[in-house]
Parts: sequence; structure tokens; C-alpha cells
Amino acid sequence: MAKVELKNLFKTYNKKIKALKDINLTIEDGQFFVLLGPSGAGKTTTLRCIAGLEKIDSGSVLFDNENVTEDQPASRDVSFVFQQYSLYPHYSVYENLAFPLRSPMRKLPEEEIKNKIENIAKMLKISNKLNNKATQLSGGEMQRVAIGRALIRKPNIYLMDEPLSSLDAKLRESLRVELKNIQTNLNATILYVTHDQAEATTLADKIGVLKEGVVVQIGSPEEIYENPNSIYVSQRLGSPKINILPGSLFKSKDEPPKIGFRPESVSLGNGQYEGKIISVENLGSETVVAIDYQGNEILASVQGNYKSTINEIINFDIDANKVLKFDKEGNRIYER
Ligand SMILES: Nc1ncnc2c1ncn2[C@@H]1O[C@H](COP(=O)(O)OP(=O)(O)O)[C@@H](O)[C@H]1O
Ligand SMILES: [Mg+2]
Repeated sequence: MAKVELKNLFKTYNKKIKALKDINLTIEDGQFFVLLGPSGAGKTTTLRCIAGLEKIDSGSVLFDNENVTEDQPASRDVSFVFQQYSLYPHYSVYENLAFPLRSPMRKLPEEEIKNKIENIAKMLKISNKLNNKATQLSGGEMQRVAIGRALIRKPNIYLMDEPLSSLDAKLRESLRVELKNIQTNLNATILYVTHDQAEATTLADKIGVLKEGVVVQIGSPEEIYENPNSIYVSQRLGSPKINILPGSLFKSKDEPPKIGFRPESVSLGNGQYEGKIISVENLGSETVVAIDYQGNEILASVQGNYKSTINEIINFDIDANKVLKFDKEGNRIYER
């Protein structure tokens, strides 16, 4: 597969909607790269520009250092998995999977097509559905076939546009794990876009955080989680969400405008701060406790079942090493 680079990519719709503003990205060969951003951030547009389905204003797209910016979609050799099912409804699963292999440019022998289909069907656990019409499948099965249809070839890159977002939570989780295993086995290059933080952290080798057409930070899931460069990035990952509070509430020498700390950095029972418990949520492996501290809500997450009652006055502490400081604009203030 290929290394894919985006350089200074700008894309405007209808002369006024600035969808992409100077995107710079490198997806290494064999990498699982996830672009994470809310709806409207420019995720689909980025994929469409790589596939050649949108004309860009300026910038370039490179595959293995070769400039493909002016190339037609067909000659770019990418596989696209769309957000909505895009199967041929009256074809069988087998024929849907065979479709990308039957292009006149490829001319594979029927035996080889059959082998490839059987392999991919096994990987995606749809072997027993090969003779079904696409319309005779559940949503989860349809999306498996759509992913299978992309993975059956080895193009320069797989482009995946929130392929699991229409599925229920349980199915999404199991397909997520399967997709990661398949990617690892195939050593595939994937650019996967999503608004779902759990998908980003479990799938990605690298995450790029997208905000209004700008990539605001790139890093491993751990780097993005532990070392975000802004409040915006800090709020993309983590459940329950990071606590962001006025810096003046806490005892420190320099008092930054804002501070942030994750719920797991709060310890309960004793400590220098005193607050009142607003709510307690026992999730089995952890308990999330919301505390009112001088009119601000603080979330604490502690392991196991933490016994406490609403309105109880509680002492707590915050791990000073885990406190992030931010300026008025929400950008990170780094310690010297
Ligand atoms: N075909 C289009 N015509 C006009 N505006 C569009 C078109 N496609 C997307 N946009 C706009 O471009 C921005 C980015 O959209 P999109 O790439 O679809 O975001 P995402 O996939 O992250 O939700 C949004 O403001 C969206 O409304
Ligand atoms: Mg989209």
C-alpha cells in the first residue's frame, strides 16, 4: 500500500464555506490513522479530496511521494467505505464482494476471485451469507459486506467514513475489534474518520484532531489523552470528560486562567479540598462521583464501588502532577 500525504490542503464549497483550511497530514504505509472531529469539522471532505471526488482550491495530495492532485479518481486506486451502506441491493453478497475484482482493468481468474471472497467472508464472519441478496441482511451484516468489499483489494489506501456509526453499540464494539485485527494482519494503510472517541482510541496508531477544517493536534492516542495542546483537544478524549475549571479556584503559585484534570486524577476521602456530593454513578468497575466545589461541578472517577451518599460533605484531592494549565484562549501553558 502507500504512504499518503496531504500538503496545505484548502477546500471551499460554493465560494464561501471553508471546509478545509490548510490540512497537513502524513499517513504512513501500514498505519491506522484516525481523524477525530465533530460533525461538520471536515472529515468527509478530507476523504473525498484524497479520493479525487472533490476539486481542491490549493495544496497537494501525494501517494508515495508522487503528486496525484490532478489525477482522476479511478486512477488513484483507493477503496472508500461510505457512512451509509452502499451495496448493490439486487446482487448477492458474493457478487457485491466480487464487484471490485471484476473491473476490466483487473481480469482476475474466477478461481482467484472465489478464493479472495471466501477469505474475506471468513474474516468478517459472513461466510454463511454469501448467497443472500444484499437486501436480506441485517444492518450489521450489510456494513460488514461494505467493509469486506473495500478490503478485498489492496489499493493505495482504505478511506473509511464513520463506517460503524449506524450500528448499535454492541455491534459497533465487536466490529471495531475485528477491524483492528484485520488491519494488523493485512498491515493495511487506513484513514478512518469518526466523531467517536472510543473508536479513535481503540483503532488508531495515530490520531489527528480536527476542528473546523483545521488539524489542531496529531499524536498517539496516549499523547492526545495525556498531553493535549488545548482545552478543545482535552475534551475530545476521555469518559467521563475532563474537568475544566477557573484556575483561581485552586491553590497554586501562578494561577493560570483555566485548569484541567481528568476524573481519575481526583482522589476521594481526604485531601485539601472540601465539597458536597451531587451524584453517584456506580458503573461496576468504576464509580463516578460528581462533587459541588464552590459552585463548580467536579467529576471524580474511582475504581470499584465507592460507597457514598448524595449531599454528603467530602474531602478530596487532585494529583498536582496531572493538572494541565490553559490560557484565556484555551491553549495549553507548558511548564518550563
Ligand atoms: N457538497 C457540499 N456543499 C456545500 N457545503 C458542504 C458540502 N459538503 C460539506 N459541506 C460543508 O463543509 C463542512 C465540512 O463538512 P464535512 O466534510 O461533511 O464534515 P464532517 O464529515 O466532519 O461532518 C460543513 O460545514 C458542511 O456543511
Ligand atoms: Mg461526514
